[in-house]
Amino acid sequence: MVASDSEFASRAGLEILRQGGNAFDAAAAVSFALAVTRPQSTGIGGGGFLIAWKPAGEEIVVSDFRESAPAASTPLMYAQAVKRHPGTPTPSRYGALAVAVPGIVAGRAEMLHSHGTMSLAEVLAPAIRLARDGFPVDQHYIDACVSALEIYDQYPSLIESCNYVYRTHIRSGILRKQGEDLVQPELAHLLETLAANGASVFYKGPIAEALVRANNRHGGILSKGDFADYRVRNDRPPVVFSYRHHTVIAMPPPSSGGICLAETLNILESFDLPKIHADKPALARHYFVEAMKHAFADRARWLGDPDFAPIPVGLLTAKGYGQQLAFDIDADHCSDPETYGAVQIPDDAGTSHFCIVDQWGNCVVSTETVNTEFGSLFAVDEWGLILNNEMDDFAAEAGVANIYGLVQSKRNGVEAGKRPLSSMSPTIVLKDGKPVLLLGGSGGPRIISSVLNVLLNVVDFGMPLQDAMTTPRIHHQWQPDQVFFDKAPPSNWTIGLTARGHKLSEQCKTGIIQAILIQNGELTGASDPRKGGRPAGD
Ligand code: GLY
Repeated sequence: MVASDSEFASRAGLEILRQGGNAFDAAAAVSFALAVTRPQSTGIGGGGFLIAWKPAGEEIVVSDFRESAPAASTPLMYAQAVKRHPGTPTPSRYGALAVAVPGIVAGRAEMLHSHGTMSLAEVLAPAIRLARDGFPVDQHYIDACVSALEIYDQYPSLIESCNYVYRTHIRSGILRKQGEDLVQPELAHLLETLAANGASVFYKGPIAEALVRANNRHGGILSKGDFADYRVRNDRPPVVFSYRHHTVIAMPPPSSGGICLAETLNILESFDLPKIHADKPALARHYFVEAMKHAFADRARWLGDPDFAPIPVGLLTAKGYGQQLAFDIDADHCSDPETYGAVQIPDDAGTSHFCIVDQWGNCVVSTETVNTEFGSLFAVDEWGLILNNEMDDFAAEAGVANIYGLVQSKRNGVEAGKRPLSSMSPTIVLKDGKPVLLLGGSGGPRIISSVLNVLLNVVDFGMPLQDAMTTPRIHHQWQPDQVFFDKAPPSNWTIGLTARGHKLSEQCKTGIIQAILIQNGELTGASDPRKGGRPAGD
């Protein structure tokens, strides 16, 4: 079973499983197919995370192939760029300076080598076909092109510096219609080059050379050394915690996903949520919002790349800390924003997701991204290679919110070689030591709340997976101090939340979840209908 946000990528994974490949082989095939069919969300110019559970030895695999800041990065580089060129596109967001060193090619190749059974060429085959022969685009792709066109209209200088996306995807403003084919010959050639030469060609060969040349020509600071030095990190200890009768395995820093999930669920564990949900649904949402506010306040203050500053993982994920925060939550009111999270820590103390289960019970969950739609818009034309804008996930300028409205501390400031804090949350839930739910999503900080919403809907409220996906979702990220829904919620929720002092946003936004439920030996895959993905399974 494969659940991804592209039906073509899900089918690419199933093709590999049918050929006898395992979940890791399929994961590589899905990832490369996503690079072709979801270029607005992810691609080999991006990075990501993976968590897997192998029944043999009950082994947990964690892989961090997040992008890292170029060696020439400095904390003030974006503030200085804005000062030098006022009125130009936000430099951490659009163009050559927004690009961090991509990790997807290295991440997938290393995973294949360590846990897969097939060659890089074999798992690349479906993606090469999709790039060469084309595939019909859907509404999500068209919506992303409309958004990108608005950026080009606002900043016409990007048409020259970021021409590949403008020419290939935006087609100078004549957008494709739903069902029209997208063919990407340059990208097909790149994938064929990887298949023939291996992943090293991306980091030390002609692809890296072309990328650095183009990047420097347009004001970027990437160097050949950045590519030669890029390393996948397979040594991060997962965040593992219990929630009621389940065990949750989640992503550690530089993702904030695992810590935020643990902190929120540890708080919620103090309440009889299933009963409160049945009797007083607005009160259940109030507790949920208050718990998220604590977790996001701590995210803003304490989280970043653990290689650059110690992260108080133990304290933030401790049951006692969650219980203390829960004890202090007022059932009738929300509190002053400054009182959320741990103000003092003791000394000891965008995107695309897929889930795969193979015939042997190997489970893989992985989230990858180029950050916002079509990443930085900057691309290497001759390779059809669109680059991420992951530098915007840093606190690029002190006190200035990033594109997701997240204001963050110096711990997540720009530094050479550092990985920006992420919200990507590949998650596996176990019961009695066996996986029962795989999930994760896209949507910046809304990934965390979307994973929480679906997890609670399944675990606490007993909803079937498809209902758990479609029920209205609630999100709060501490700052801005507003509750967000993805669609109109029942009026008793909004009345109950407003009465407790919450400010409700008019904006409707949420993450996009992919999930697989494992129940009585049966696999149920579900793709969030909000993006048009589709699971594929036998
Ligand atoms: N690029 C969005 C995230 O990693 O959270």
